[in-house]
Amino acid sequence: MGLGEFVLARALHVLGVVLWIGGVAFVTLVLLPGLRQYGAAGERMALFERLEGGFARQARATTLLTGLSGLWLVHQLHAWSRFADGRYWWMHAMVAVWLLFTLMLFVLEPWFLHRWFNARAAHDPVGTFRLLEGLHCFLLTVSLVTVAGAAAGSHGWMF
Ligand code: HEM
Repeated sequence: MGLGEFVLARALHVLGVVLWIGGVAFVTLVLLPGLRQYGAAGERMALFERLEGGFARQARATTLLTGLSGLWLVHQLHAWSRFADGRYWWMHAMVAVWLLFTLMLFVLEPWFLHRWFNARAAHDPVGTFRLLEGLHCFLLTVSLVTVAGAAAGSHGWMF
């Protein structure tokens, strides 16, 4: 496998991660707190959906890009055996975060969560918004731990 291909896969992988997890950070740290502060309780959910809809589309694309380039990297590095070694926990974390977001973006959100959140927000807008913030906070935290672990681990750090 050529060096050019390896460099390309790594560059695409990191670009995917930056756009995707950067967007999650913006939604969690800027958009949601802003809506909580300035939006009326009954309107926050509808406004959030309209603003975040564009990001969800982008996140589906960058999740695909990150997953495909990641698989390409594992293949080129012959790194499958890492999944049997606990010191490579950050490899498991990458796959787990990827699966979690894939499930959320492609399955749970469009088929189920969207309707469930709207129905819940109709009778408890404040609690539902808090739940939405908690969920994003959780997703961002596990993503950032994974980014830090993968960046350190792929440059030789062992835990
Ligand atoms: C199916 C999902 C994924 C696979 C198979 C995968 C695989 C890989 C592989 C093989 C590497 C190179 C490791 C090395 O050089 O030793 C890598 C690097 C990296 N990955 Fe992933 N990855 C996936 C998802 C993710 C996700 C979801 C994130 C972020 C939350 C992520 C963040 C990173 C980072 C930050 C690096 C280090 C880049 C660098 O410092 O050069 N990956 N990934």
